[in-house]
Amino acid sequence: MSAAPLDQRPATTGDAEAAFPQSGRERLIVPQPISFQGTGLYNSEMTSLQRVHQGAVFMMGDNPALPRMPKCPTLLDFFRLRFSELAFRHLLQSARLAVNAGQEERVVMACLLHDISNGALIRTDHGYWSAQLVAPYVSEEIAWAVKYHQALKYFADESVGFKYPDAYLGYFGEDYTPPEYIRQAHDEARNHRWYMTSRLITLYDEYAFRKDLEIDPESFTDIIGRHFRQPKEGLGFDGSPTAHMWRTMIWPNNFL
Ligand SMILES: [Fe+2]
Ligand SMILES: [Fe+2]
Repeated sequence: MSAAPLDQRPATTGDAEAAFPQSGRERLIVPQPISFQGTGLYNSEMTSLQRVHQGAVFMMGDNPALPRMPKCPTLLDFFRLRFSELAFRHLLQSARLAVNAGQEERVVMACLLHDISNGALIRTDHGYWSAQLVAPYVSEEIAWAVKYHQALKYFADESVGFKYPDAYLGYFGEDYTPPEYIRQAHDEARNHRWYMTSRLITLYDEYAFRKDLEIDPESFTDIIGRHFRQPKEGLGFDGSPTAHMWRTMIWPNNFL
């Protein structure tokens, strides 16, 4: 199974027919400031502001171009309804490889979550963002492993057969060296009691997609049930320290 493009995924919520907010008006989307810094892309903030004075509004709430999320979204709802196809397949493949290798459930869960912020939030420093997103809902060890996998990825560990990824040579150039904070994070992690949990993430963190693997989010329902404390109010609405990050993925186009 692969994730369809976002605009082709069905809304799964019972209130799919409910009206979208701000109906009847032109709803303007201004990209997040961080997404066009330094890119040369046109920043529409100022021109959008002028159009608001002429009757348009800034988008707030459900965007009809995205599948509507249920009122109490679960982790798998984010996988199915918000994550990019790349992140969807990559996370499910990593977790499946860990299961097939006979790893413990906490390692599988860490693999399933390790790049979660790349799914629909932010790529930069993704280990840190991903760890923070899930920290209220998983064990301290899983969040720790997710955080440090970003740094460990740049450093070989021959004891488990992990070498510097060939993919990184292409992604970043052969002369790239990671910055000091990544080196420090690696050194810290290396001597930590949870080192191997994080290291195992990097082992199943393959960039090529395997055609022979089952990529089905439902197959992880039981493991998620045991290792991810889904709030009854839904992710984004439980008042946790990271609820706003989940809401940002539900409504990525909100102006404020
Ligand atoms: Fe990663
Ligand atoms: Fe990854």
